[in-house]
Amino acid sequence: MEENKKRVLSMLQPTGTFTLGNYFGAIKNFVALQDEYECVYAMADLHAITVRQEPAKLRENVLKSYALTLACGIDLNKSILFLQSQVPEHSQLAWILNCYTQFGELSRMTQFKDKSAKHADNVNAGLFTYPCLMAADILLYQADYVPVGEDQKQHLELTRNIAERFNGLYSPTFTVPEALIPKYGARIRSLQDPTSKMSKSDPNVNSFVSLLDDPDTVIRKFKRAVTDSEAVVRYAEGKDGINNLMGIYSCATGKTMEEIEKEFEGKGYGDFKLAVGEAVADTLKPIQAEYNKIITDKAYLEKCFAENAMKAEKIARKTVSKVMRKVGYIQMK
Ligand code: TRP
Repeated sequence: MEENKKRVLSMLQPTGTFTLGNYFGAIKNFVALQDEYECVYAMADLHAITVRQEPAKLRENVLKSYALTLACGIDLNKSILFLQSQVPEHSQLAWILNCYTQFGELSRMTQFKDKSAKHADNVNAGLFTYPCLMAADILLYQADYVPVGEDQKQHLELTRNIAERFNGLYSPTFTVPEALIPKYGARIRSLQDPTSKMSKSDPNVNSFVSLLDDPDTVIRKFKRAVTDSEAVVRYAEGKDGINNLMGIYSCATGKTMEEIEKEFEGKGYGDFKLAVGEAVADTLKPIQAEYNKIITDKAYLEKCFAENAMKAEKIARKTVSKVMRKVGYIQMK
């Protein structure tokens, strides 16, 4: 890796599969950033246990998510892709940062409020302090940029505050990271309720497309997508369903909204939905082929885990040593 490149860091929740929204909104952008930046990516498996997980299922989901991220085009000759739980510095720095973060700040996090309402029977301390772990994830690597979606902006802002606070109390220790807003990468919405985000946890499976859905399933889900009664393929306010489908088609084909409007002039929604479904199925085909190769090769995956955890730890270790020295801990000889 070249020294003069700025560093990007981001992590994904290892849910086992990703949606088309995760792909067009985040992962495709991660892939695109690899040439311009030194990229460090990881599966946020420490975060995963803020909600109860079945051990075998967690293991499987982490494996699948990692393999799928590779299949989407993360190149291990250019970037690091590791498992958060395999680099103990994340937990170490998270504890320290806990002590530089106020109860009041964490109480204001909207994701905590949402998640604690959703999992009212398990509002654990980890759920509350998880933004400190996320701050550790970022600050350990002295990241310049963090590609984040809308829902993580508040956490990044908190990370910046923690970094500035620590730097101010001691001396410059952490790079203060900035959000990296993707150049493209639409916010993909639910196919059944285009006013809400496409989400894998939606009980209606027709509302989202998984990257591992087979072509028939993909085409069927688009066929059933909610539209409107105008029957004109046109990007306009109030046409949430069509706008969403046009956004997806644009991401899948690289066509602009005007080009799409032209292409479907005089045609009905049926033709359009079929075209979107086919374009998405075509996008997913090479990803799935690559995924099927990787997921069956456990030895390869294990080698990737080990090599990448080592590369990540080398960077993370430096930061933790520096932090411990500044805080006043006695270094082990
Ligand atoms: N919190 C992020 C999410 O819910 C995942 C994440 C964990 C992350 N650590 C991170 C994202 C560090 C960016 C940087 O999607």
